[in-house]
Amino acid sequence: MKFFIDTADLNEIRDLAATGLLDGVTTNPSLIAKAGGDFLETVKEICDVVPGDVSAEVTATDYHTMVREGQRLAKLADNVVIKVPLTMDGLKACKTLRNEGAKVNVTLCFSSAQAILAAKAGATYISPFVGRLDDIATSGMDLIADIVQIYDNYPDIETEVLVASIRHPLHLVEAARMGAHVATLPPAVLRQLFNHPLTDKGLAAFLADWEATGQTILEESEAASATAGRG
Ligand code: G3P
Repeated sequence: MKFFIDTADLNEIRDLAATGLLDGVTTNPSLIAKAGGDFLETVKEICDVVPGDVSAEVTATDYHTMVREGQRLAKLADNVVIKVPLTMDGLKACKTLRNEGAKVNVTLCFSSAQAILAAKAGATYISPFVGRLDDIATSGMDLIADIVQIYDNYPDIETEVLVASIRHPLHLVEAARMGAHVATLPPAVLRQLFNHPLTDKGLAAFLADWEATGQTILEESEAASATAGRG
């Protein structure tokens, strides 16, 4: 399963990219507005930091302008993925941009019918929003299960299911259980995945027992400079 992070915050992106666990980034106009920088510059910088796919969304709603915007975004870097909304014009733009060789992420998907249309349009990714469905008392994860099953019925479908609007670690675990290809995680949720109280408790016990032995793995001088470097 690929891990993307859902943010335009470059500090977060640099920090999490350093873990080596990131396969890509997704942004949207709200995340760009929140980060506060120039859109095109921000996308370029993100593409430099993360070698994987970086989604940048068009803001027009008509076919012709979406295609023009998509073409401009595609020129920013080789790893830009054009994000278009799941509308009739959006899917027309998806088809055109795919024919031109760009990758396209079709966003704002809330039904299996929409996901079938996106696959027909040749989308590289379909982004169903699980959290926003949960917010209206409809199971977001049921939608993921349905789309994964439908796409599995047709081996020629290459569209990858990119689970978006993730709100907590269980969304990610369930998405993995269902075989979704990608999860885009808010940075805070990605950080939460590392945590387990038994890990903390077990590590504290190991370290206390180790300290009692009075030994070091590194030479003493090396251990001292490593500790100083961390401080
Ligand atoms: O980037 C699209 C999606 O992940 C948005 O999530 O939390 O605004 O519903 P959210």
